[in-house]
Amino acid sequence: MPQILRNPHDLKSYISERIATGKTIGFVPTMGALHEGHLTLARRALSECDECIVSIFVNPKQFAPHEDFEKYPRALDKDSNLLEKSGVQSIFAPSIDVMYPPGFQSTVTVGSISKPLEGEFRPHFFAGVATVVTRLLLLVGAHKAYFGEKDYQQLQVIKTLQRDLAIPTEIIGVPTVREESGLALSSRNAYLSDIQKQQALTIITTLRKMENELKSGAEIHQIEEAARKNLESAGFDKIDYITIRDAETLLPPTIETKKHRILAAAWLGQARLIDNIPG
Ligand code: PAF
Repeated sequence: MPQILRNPHDLKSYISERIATGKTIGFVPTMGALHEGHLTLARRALSECDECIVSIFVNPKQFAPHEDFEKYPRALDKDSNLLEKSGVQSIFAPSIDVMYPPGFQSTVTVGSISKPLEGEFRPHFFAGVATVVTRLLLLVGAHKAYFGEKDYQQLQVIKTLQRDLAIPTEIIGVPTVREESGLALSSRNAYLSDIQKQQALTIITTLRKMENELKSGAEIHQIEEAARKNLESAGFDKIDYITIRDAETLLPPTIETKKHRILAAAWLGQARLIDNIPG
């Protein structure tokens, strides 16, 4: 079984022993309820580094009071079994008090990249993510850290804070893992009924349709309007956004735009689903 480390002291001595013997460390931060997407990150870490450490911490700072912090799936034993099968050597599983000890009062906020899209609909979210990820990256001190492109804006926020704060861990983005149907894997898919899982597929089919329309030169506004209608007719309860953006700034494309990213966030019942593809 992977060794479970519960506090910064044990974590530091575990990591420094390995670094002293010349080992390279890959780090995969997670909130647990692991699926094939997380395991793909761990396998990628193990293919590039000698050791992989996975953190499991449901970070209260990235949930608003009305969001699903209490309900978020937690399954440390199951997670630990899955990680063992993937060859992961250690898990950092701190309590809330260990991550945020009494007196903790710092927040990391990232500028313009965190403002649109998720930043608009979940205004507290990126400060929570940036704060926990900064603390985790500094505590672990890995050579490389791996994040899924499923949370594309999160990945851009983390790359920005790593660069701006000169954190000595390389940040690596890994393509989204999908079910054969195309549905992006997510711990929150656990909230979906079978019927909702079918409905959820409309997100990826619509994103792919948008990609084709963009390539064939259609007008962005019209593509976005048709896409929103598509999700509405598939029965989504609320559509936060379905949009084509500049892949770097995440703002609407301009003549300077080199690459596009097509992103969506929409609600089916209690579940907020997000997905994105390159444009
Ligand atoms: O993507 C996630 O699971 C979380 O946002 C992260 C990066 C582990 C921070 O809590």
